[in-house]
Amino acid sequence: MLSFLKSKPRLKELLSNSYIDIHSHLLPGIDDGAKNISDTIKLAKAFEEIGFSQFVTTPHIKNHFWDNSAATIIAKQQHTAIVLEENNIKIPFRAAAEYFMDDWFENHFKTEKLLTIKDNYVLVEISYINPPVQLHKILFDLRVAGYIPILAHPERYLYYHKNFDEYEKLKKLGCLFQLNLLATTGYYGNEVTKITEELLKKGMYNFVGSDVHHHNHIKSFDQKIKVNSISDLKEVIKNNNIFKF
Ligand SMILES: [Fe+2]
Repeated sequence: MLSFLKSKPRLKELLSNSYIDIHSHLLPGIDDGAKNISDTIKLAKAFEEIGFSQFVTTPHIKNHFWDNSAATIIAKQQHTAIVLEENNIKIPFRAAAEYFMDDWFENHFKTEKLLTIKDNYVLVEISYINPPVQLHKILFDLRVAGYIPILAHPERYLYYHKNFDEYEKLKKLGCLFQLNLLATTGYYGNEVTKITEELLKKGMYNFVGSDVHHHNHIKSFDQKIKVNSISDLKEVIKNNNIFKF
């Protein structure tokens, strides 16, 4: 078993110097990510050290919980960019959002423009407890509104693990999948890693993201990966190049 593990690369070794991250929580004090600007500085420095070339950070927008808006996120991004520059951190970054799909969101995107990762690609998530009953309708309406939804960390929705068909249905509705990189190291537990392997093997992932919130996440990039589908994983990582800015 040990020699088997030895042959696996560390997660950070898979991220070439052109890697573009599209999911993280680095803006200070607006969600459960960086608590303050000094956290932001440390995490952005760590991104540079791991070798990320650019990143799009994605604060949560969740009604009554994380009441961020496109305007407040952009303002925060602009202020943060000045501070990072003052601290000699040169990695280019932008801000988008990770939208929680619920009743509020269903109405929100029909009246307000969403903050996208690039063009019409929008990062979305759902509850870890159960999916919204109207999930398929929301995804359909999002497409009709001209967006391409990217579902964050499908491997982390445990209720789909024994209901794999649901993943197929979401893909058929035009929903793209973003793998949380740390799932490949076992960070979220073995069950999540197992489903990650299955989704990788079936070619169901479109993109990857770090979903970094804090320093423990950064440390885990030093871990060896546990999945066997290394070449599939490398291909998905490469797909992130379309987000270059
Ligand atoms: Fe996230």
